[in-house]
Amino acid sequence: MRNRPKVLVSRKIPFKGLSLLREYCEVTVGAEDRMLTRKELLKLIEGKDGVLSMLTDQMDKEVMDAAPDLKVISNYAVGYDNIDITEATRRGISVTNTPDVLTDATADLAWALLMDVARRVTEGDRLNRKGKWKEWAPMFHLGKEVTGSVLGIVGFGRIGRAMVKRALGFDMEIVYFSRTRLSPAEEQRLGVRYLSFTDLLQHADFVSLHAPYTKETHHLIGADELSRMKATAYLINTSRGGLIDEKALLTALREGKIAGAGLDVYEMEPQLTPGLEKLENVVLAPHLGSATRETRELMAWRAAKNVLAELFDDMGQSNRVN
Ligand code: DGY
Repeated sequence: MRNRPKVLVSRKIPFKGLSLLREYCEVTVGAEDRMLTRKELLKLIEGKDGVLSMLTDQMDKEVMDAAPDLKVISNYAVGYDNIDITEATRRGISVTNTPDVLTDATADLAWALLMDVARRVTEGDRLNRKGKWKEWAPMFHLGKEVTGSVLGIVGFGRIGRAMVKRALGFDMEIVYFSRTRLSPAEEQRLGVRYLSFTDLLQHADFVSLHAPYTKETHHLIGADELSRMKATAYLINTSRGGLIDEKALLTALREGKIAGAGLDVYEMEPQLTPGLEKLENVVLAPHLGSATRETRELMAWRAAKNVLAELFDDMGQSNRVN
């Protein structure tokens, strides 16, 4: 008979992932419908062999100290900036994430934000609900044409590349910036052109961020970068809030330095930088990148498999990141 390791799932996840874990492990679900408080997390993780964590759980040294037997932190997200990777690695704790399964959902959401802010859909909805729509008019509520415009993709991993497919359908010119450049043959195959970060900012009508959040990418977009963008350009962020200096963005949006922004993620989630909510030229989604029923099921399954793969020798491969 196998031993049954103890696993904490910090909050309730879709059923299939949870039941898979329960087949092999003693599972504690932290909370049904809210994130755990820090105190609860520190208490519940005691004595656990594995944890399935949310991106809202800070998995740092203190948490790892509370669980000396911890062997795996399986993050229910592709991003893992909530985990102190250096500390986990030092202790021999595996860290895993859920890539691939959320690529399309996240690119779809980035696309939805891009379309929304360009065509002023949510802004129009607000106006309509207030009974302020008087009549159809030739110059009423004009937006930016997406078809044929220039998309600048910053970060060219899975989700960045998934943007290409969408942009091609809109006959867009596609430029990208990434730490590593593709081969000319690959660029040609995909229909993309590499630009330096500064050139991309100056050239793109839409700048969409798809880089991971790290020390190096903290405030990748600040006042200087915003001032390099076209006054008619839009900024889209579905990655992590910390990529943007939100105060600088607020100023740029207020002063018309750029035309608008579509945001799904924020520096101090779920708090917004005060003032953002008053602006008409920004669409503010509440971190919905992977939020489809289908994707969240797959993430739960993937995250559960990752726990099992790390705790048992014969349960396949995990999406290990360290
Ligand atoms: C991720 O997986 O990192 C997403 O932000 C979750 O929605």
